[in-house]
Amino acid sequence: MEQYAIKGGNPLVGEVEIGGAKNAALAILAAAAMTEETVIIENVPDLRDTMVMLQAMKSIGIQVEKPDRHTVKINAGVVNNLIVEDDSIKKIRASYYFLGALLGKYKKAEVALPGGCNIGLRPIDQHIKGFRALGANVRIEHGLIITEADRLIGSHIYLDVVTVGATINIMLAAAMAEGQTIIENAAKEPHVVDVANFLNSMGASIKGAGTDVIRIKGVPRLHGTEYAIIPDQIEAGTFMFAAAVTRGDVTVKNVIPKHLESISAKLEEIGCEVEESDDAVRVVAAKPLTHTHVKTLPYPGFPTDMQPQITVALGLSRGTSIVTESIFENRFKYVDELTRMGASIKVESNTAIIDGVARYTGASLTAPDLRAGAALVTAALAAEGISTIDDIKFIERGYEDFPQKLQSLGAQIEKVNTERELQKFRLKVG
Ligand code: EPZ
Repeated sequence: MEQYAIKGGNPLVGEVEIGGAKNAALAILAAAAMTEETVIIENVPDLRDTMVMLQAMKSIGIQVEKPDRHTVKINAGVVNNLIVEDDSIKKIRASYYFLGALLGKYKKAEVALPGGCNIGLRPIDQHIKGFRALGANVRIEHGLIITEADRLIGSHIYLDVVTVGATINIMLAAAMAEGQTIIENAAKEPHVVDVANFLNSMGASIKGAGTDVIRIKGVPRLHGTEYAIIPDQIEAGTFMFAAAVTRGDVTVKNVIPKHLESISAKLEEIGCEVEESDDAVRVVAAKPLTHTHVKTLPYPGFPTDMQPQITVALGLSRGTSIVTESIFENRFKYVDELTRMGASIKVESNTAIIDGVARYTGASLTAPDLRAGAALVTAALAAEGISTIDDIKFIERGYEDFPQKLQSLGAQIEKVNTERELQKFRLKVG
């Protein structure tokens, strides 16, 4: 019955170390399959999703070692199979990065159709359009996306929507195509830049990542490298909002404050103090929270992956707030759970209208997806009384040692596996 048991009411106070960026790591692990030489990647978060990627790599013959918890050593000198259809890979989204990586290197890939959080339709037409523009054939058969090419030739690709996944996937394939590829209307997220930097450290020639035009000169081979992944913007943002909702004082360490600007700006708008230093950001929530409006947008806008966390905070603010979700159409499923904690939120298509309430009360909750799950944890930390959260497997996909990190900030949270453990928790917290 794995669940989190949480007793709310303690302000979170202290410092917390942020790990490597999940969504950068997933693409970088796939990209490591593009050279026969050894690649060492540091600051890899130890998560369910990264484990699944590594398992899938092993399943096609790639050697994977973990010299320590956050370092991975990969050698793809022998790849004995270009079909990635490991059972667990079907459940994650980032499996699609094997398409770009293997197509780029071997001119062929067969990968199970991607799964991932159920937050909307999540088509992959832009990935397919990009591969086709490079000269690949792409078809879907028996639950696999099959792509192959005699040669990949650089091309000019204009993306119809700003998409992180397609930008990275096309960059992967184009890194080893012949000639120049230009991606216009590219995503600018920090992890797009991180993947480009990683590929460049392997000998690729990618310019403009972080702007909306990326230029890639294909190279015939990539070499080994040692690389450290950037800190996770969303893990950091989640702890920053946890500080706000519990009226705490939390310093997130090992972050790049520039990547957190849209998050910091909203926290200041709703009444928190935010102090930045070189690699840390401190959030102090001494005053009552006030209402605001927010719309999720591609980077550098406010991230869709922070939408549930800010909604939880606005639910406890003074006044009426409006949250508009513009990236994924089905990302308000957690609102029913929040309502059961006393929140007053009305959802109309992609907009949530929030009338702030003075407090939440503990309830039995279910995590509908990764970020919403984490946001419900923050709501429970702010609530009066005890909450339980089921389906924590979603949360574990993206947050390493979440309960332990929260405990170090003074939270009363425990992972419990049985009714008896839950009873023990209840007795302990009183
Ligand atoms: C990535 O998903 C992340 N996942 C998501 O993180 C994140 O929410 C999202 O980017 C936006 O930042 C991974 O990196 C594994 P998109 P992705 O392609 O690549 C539409 C988390 O919690 N679109 O940027 O699937 C799409 O429907 C997760 O860590 C097309 O129309 O997102 C969406 O509306 C959840 N056609 C928009 O673009 C396509 O071919 C942005 O999607 C591709 C996307």
